[in-house]
Amino acid sequence: MEKHPDLPGDEARARARSRVLREAIEHHNYRYYVLDDPEISDAEYDALLRELQAIEESFPGQRDPLSPTQRVGHAPLDRFAPARHATPMLSLSNAESADEVREFDARVRRLLSRSAPLAYTAEPKMDGLAVELLYEHGVFRRGATRGDGVSGEDVTQNLRTVRSIPLRLRTPAKTPAPPRLAVRGEVYMAIADFQALNAARLSKGEPAFANPRNAAAGSIRQLDPRITASRPLDIFFYGVGETTGHRFRTQWEILQTLPKWGLRVNPLIARCEDAEEAIRYFDGLAGRREALPYEIDGVVIKVDDLRLQEELGTIARSPRWAVAYKFLPRQATTRIRAIEVSVGRTGALTPVAILEPVSIGGTTVSRATLHNQDEIDRKDVRVGDKVLVQRAGDVIPEVVKIIESKRTGKEKKFRIPDRCPVCEGVVERSEGEAASYCVNAQCPAQVRERILHFASKRAIDIDGLGDKIVNMLVEKKLVSNAADLYALEAKTLAGLERLGEKSAANLVAAIKGSRRPPLGRFIHALGIRHVGEQIADILAREFGSIEALGRASEDELTAVHGIGPEIAGSVAAFFREVRNRELIRRMEKLGVDPQAPARRGPGTGGPLEGKTFIFTGALASMTREEAGDAVERLGGRVGATVSRKTDYVVVGEDAGSKAARAEKLGVPMLDEAKFLKLIGR
Ligand code: IVH
Repeated sequence: MEKHPDLPGDEARARARSRVLREAIEHHNYRYYVLDDPEISDAEYDALLRELQAIEESFPGQRDPLSPTQRVGHAPLDRFAPARHATPMLSLSNAESADEVREFDARVRRLLSRSAPLAYTAEPKMDGLAVELLYEHGVFRRGATRGDGVSGEDVTQNLRTVRSIPLRLRTPAKTPAPPRLAVRGEVYMAIADFQALNAARLSKGEPAFANPRNAAAGSIRQLDPRITASRPLDIFFYGVGETTGHRFRTQWEILQTLPKWGLRVNPLIARCEDAEEAIRYFDGLAGRREALPYEIDGVVIKVDDLRLQEELGTIARSPRWAVAYKFLPRQATTRIRAIEVSVGRTGALTPVAILEPVSIGGTTVSRATLHNQDEIDRKDVRVGDKVLVQRAGDVIPEVVKIIESKRTGKEKKFRIPDRCPVCEGVVERSEGEAASYCVNAQCPAQVRERILHFASKRAIDIDGLGDKIVNMLVEKKLVSNAADLYALEAKTLAGLERLGEKSAANLVAAIKGSRRPPLGRFIHALGIRHVGEQIADILAREFGSIEALGRASEDELTAVHGIGPEIAGSVAAFFREVRNRELIRRMEKLGVDPQAPARRGPGTGGPLEGKTFIFTGALASMTREEAGDAVERLGGRVGATVSRKTDYVVVGEDAGSKAARAEKLGVPMLDEAKFLKLIGR
């Protein structure tokens, strides 16, 4: 036992006891979560935890951030900090059939010039949320969502609340945990937990989550870790990112080693001698799918040998060495009771089938999209039809087809009305477009959807501004655009139904608190057509302010890497509209001040400071965007046209005229290998 001569006797005893307790609890966590083989009952485990809590409460000096009691209670955040991944988190290309897996295998072996069978790992593809966790010297330091693959959100405090995530790694003598370990995995919610959570939410009048994946993702992206802590989340790890001090040779070795460090790996993984074995594994798992306590949407098949993985490399954002062999989407049959038309923020009218509720993969489905009139006609969907509905990997269920043999002759055809169901305004359908639009920009449904989008989590993120409140504000004509929100006063709001004085004050405070959004989110919030989160971030980084973006010509916009003519046209058109410029000006007057992203590129003093790069042709190991990011991170910039001022032209495969021009001007050219060396990869 350690000696603490300066502590009074009972405190020293307490310290020794709490250490024993912490170690015991960590051991039992490992038995329970990783080995799935507990040695004690839940009640005994709870007793240990309670004893430890009691000691820590009596002796606050003995609190330890790594204690198993410290998984809750961190203060809420305003928003998540961005977190860049040291190596990008890739996505997977899909295979829909055994033959496509065989094609994948043939391609891989062709690329490797190999005729002998190739070994793969086969892993259940968890349907949840991808995260990366960083352990330094065995201590959990940081965790981030996948985000766009390059950069996600720092959700460390939330991940700490997931009990199957160890706060400290085990470090067995034979395989000590490495000094730096980035591990990747999928956070998910078990189906039973998801159902219980939804039942509880419904009984409290809160909306249910559509499916376990949404519930898991929503819980991890909670700004208040105490809420996350109350959600039953779990994790399976499946890979490593940047790691020092430990070399793995195979994916199988990774999967075998992670559990030794206390990191939970799905026990259903398998190592397969060849592609046929992986296909048989898939068939076997498909048969067990319904019986599993969690949702999986397929099998991830990976080349086992990591050296071969490296040799194969990646194209676009997916590795050449892995494929997701997907299960058929989940489907069920039910009847269409009615068809409603909903109006989106762009005015698009979407027909929605109102269904007799049916359970698909643990989710009750009562509405399904019919997309548009063409789809209705193509599928010949009528009110009263018995239909096959699917909830694909996607969240919005859709009607796949009608069951013709169940037709009675009483079904009624449906046409999208030529007047908007909400405002009775004119509905138009432009040539070559599938969707019909309500052209009245003041249509309350559009106004409502635009404001909801503006306030939504992934845009400005105004807490408490849900659809009920927005509905009411629009109905009472208190707001007709996003700027109006910032002019709202608590005394106007108090007294509206469902808003007391306190919640009115809270809402106004939340709106006021949102006046300094990151520029990218603000641009996203404006709801410009074709401008999603990622594009908005690119625009923010490139232009640095709303004024500069508003001034940009279509040519200047298209010159930005990642911005095509369609997006450029849509952005320019948005800022040409007086109404939109007015809206932004009013928001600024009311104190809205979007914050430019932290500077990167020139002026940040990196090793490539002052150097201009031009890319031509495709790189095998990364996308252009990733390459450009790497240059900017090191202080350089990426240009569009080759001139004498260009420092390097990076020449990939199928390079175009830029390479010829560089040659003519005598600008140094780099092949991919040299470029990678220059950026330190
Ligand atoms: S490997 C190249 N393994 O699927 C490596 N992914 O489309 C990419 N996923 O975002 C990931 N289970 O969230 C891998 N055993 C598994 C997985 C898995 C689920 C998810 C992951 C990723 C997505 C890729």
